Amino acid sequence: MIIAIDGPAASGKGTLARRLADVLNLRHMDTGALYRGCAFEVLQAKGDPSNEQDALKGCKKLKEKIQSTPDLNIILGNPELRNDKVGNAASKLASISSVRETLKSIQIDFSCQEKKGFNGVILDGRDIGTVICPNAHIKFYVEADLETRAKRRLKELQSRGLDVTYNAVFAQMRERDDRDTQRDTAPLRAAEDAIVINTSDFTEDEVLEKALAYAKKVRGL
Ligand code: DC
Repeated sequence: MIIAIDGPAASGKGTLARRLADVLNLRHMDTGALYRGCAFEVLQAKGDPSNEQDALKGCKKLKEKIQSTPDLNIILGNPELRNDKVGNAASKLASISSVRETLKSIQIDFSCQEKKGFNGVILDGRDIGTVICPNAHIKFYVEADLETRAKRRLKELQSRGLDVTYNAVFAQMRERDDRDTQRDTAPLRAAEDAIVINTSDFTEDEVLEKALAYAKKVRGL
C-alpha cells in the first residue's frame, strides 16, 4: 500500500505522515529531506542552489552518501537539514527539472522496494500524489492558512533557541510558497483525487483522526 501526502511548508503534512506511519505500520519517507539534503551539500561546497551545475553536484554527493549508508534515515534525519537557510535553498534547487529527475529515482526506488515487516509506504512532499506516486492508494493534500503556518514555524524555530521574528518568518514562507507553487516542473498542487485536509483549526490528534477515518472508509484499514 502506498499513501501520498502533499502540502506546503508547516501545513502539518510531516506530522500526519509520521503518525500514520506509526499507526498503520508503514515505512515513511520525508521527501523534503532529500531536497534539503541536496541543498545542504550545495551550501557546504559554497555553491549556488539556483545554479544547475552546483545543484547537480549536490545531488551526486547526496546519492553517494545514501549508497554508502544502510539506513537512509541516518542521512535524512540530520538535524542540520532543518534550518530555514537549508529549506530556502532546497526550494530554489527544487525548481530545476534535472535535479527533480535525479531525486525522483530515489523516491521511486523507495516506494517500489519490498518493505519486510511493514504494511506499505507513506511519502510526504510536494508532488507525491501528482508525479512520484500518481497511483497511490490514498492521497492527502494537507493545507493551512499562511498566518497559521508562519506562527507554527516561528514557535518551532524559537523552541530551538533561534532569534527570529514573525514578520521575517511570514515573508520567507510566502516567498517559498510562491516558488513551490509557480515553478514549471512538478509545482505544488493537490492531485485531483486527493482528500484535502485543512489543519488550521484542528489539533494534531484531530487531523490524524480525520485521516484514519478516511483510510478506513476507502481501504478498510
Ligand atoms: O517539506 P520541506 O519544507 O522539507 O521541503 C523543502 C523544499 O523542498 C520545499 O520548499 C520544496 C522542495 N520539495 C519539493 O519540491 N518536492 C518535494 N516532494 C519535497 C520538497
